[in-house]
Amino acid sequence: MSLTFSRGLEDVIIKETSLTYIDGVNGILRYRGYNIEDLVNYSSFEEVIYLMLYGNLPNKSQLEEVREKLYRNFDVPKELISMIYSLPKGSNAVGILESAFGMLASIYDPKWDKSTDRDLAISIISKAATITANIYRAKEGLKPKIVEPKKNFAESFLNTVFEKSFSNDEVKAMDAALILYVDHEVPASTTAGLVASSTLSDMYSCVVAALAALKGPLHGRAAEDAFNQFVEINSEDKVESWFEEKIIKGKNRLMGFGHRVYKTYDPRAKIFKYYSEKLSKNNSQANIYYKIASKLEEIGIKNFSDKKIYPNTDFYSGILFYSLGFPIYMFTALFALSRVLGWVAHFIEYVEEQHRLIRPRAIYVGPEKRDFRPLNER
Ligand code: SDX
Repeated sequence: MSLTFSRGLEDVIIKETSLTYIDGVNGILRYRGYNIEDLVNYSSFEEVIYLMLYGNLPNKSQLEEVREKLYRNFDVPKELISMIYSLPKGSNAVGILESAFGMLASIYDPKWDKSTDRDLAISIISKAATITANIYRAKEGLKPKIVEPKKNFAESFLNTVFEKSFSNDEVKAMDAALILYVDHEVPASTTAGLVASSTLSDMYSCVVAALAALKGPLHGRAAEDAFNQFVEINSEDKVESWFEEKIIKGKNRLMGFGHRVYKTYDPRAKIFKYYSEKLSKNNSQANIYYKIASKLEEIGIKNFSDKKIYPNTDFYSGILFYSLGFPIYMFTALFALSRVLGWVAHFIEYVEEQHRLIRPRAIYVGPEKRDFRPLNER
């Protein structure tokens, strides 16, 4: 038996997948064979839900079927809403998501079943929308609201959060963000959830495991930390000095830059940059942050491209969310709202097609055998 040790499981294969393909050298991302650019430009988050869970883009009746299932599952137990509203206002949004999905795992505790897994997955996406919307509403002192169906998922979600109407451009930008964050093969969060799914723990609990990993600053929280860099810099002419002080001298990581797989510009970052620029034109503060981010990107690439460190998906996403009206504390929760689709799709693929308990080994480097000595002799 050959035991190989790879720090951080770098380049270790833990599953086969037909969900998502990444070419880290050429900056290519495809869901079920479709380029991410085409899916963002020509499809919708609902179509991508069908694609990821059933393998193909839906026809009209299949799309109607998935929308109907989505729209009838927005409701959540009243105890869950009460829990969200009972927490201190400063509670972390992703931590609340973890608590909420832990509560659903306690109440329902569903078994894996090929005939119902995909319906459960769709209901999880709907409930994630109501939970995420009410995390914002509770923290902003607004009354609870279950998501109500509108033109599409993105608009239904935005309307529930802010109780106001949004332009087609704004709804399309939210839909694009939801598609962009759907899946990325087996990042830390998906891997954490897969480990839970490999023990046949219930689907809600697998989402809790994934959320716990996403919450970290090296992963999903980078969406908030990258944006906080722009806030800290706060003017375009301060970018150079900030970079010199914080990143070069301070040896801090440039958040929203670098990636374990991409050794070139993350294709999602390009699209997030496009929508951030478009939306920030209608929001003067967002436009200041966009200009700061562009300048920081230019300096970051000049300094790091020799180490193949480029902007990743989290560098510009916050500007899109901020332009829509979301506070920074919601950015990683919005990442999770989209990624819950990728997580449940991977869990179903693993449990249904290639299930095996995930149980790696550790190389022992501790002391050799020692004879025990009683307390009074130590
Ligand atoms: C996401 O895996 C996924 O697919 C994740 C994701 C998804 O869709 O699920 O794409 C989403 O999480 C994107 C990444 C968000 N995180 C950040 O933006 C945080 C900042 N980035 C880094 O911490 C880092 O780039 C990681 C964590 C993303 C990747 O780190 P690795 O592959 O473990 O690389 P490493 O930490 O071993 O760094 C290698 C070298 C080091 O320099 P040396 O010690 O060799 O001299 O590169 C340097 C690092 O210091 N480096 C950076 C850097 N990222 C790596 N230096 C400055 N700024 C950075 N951002």
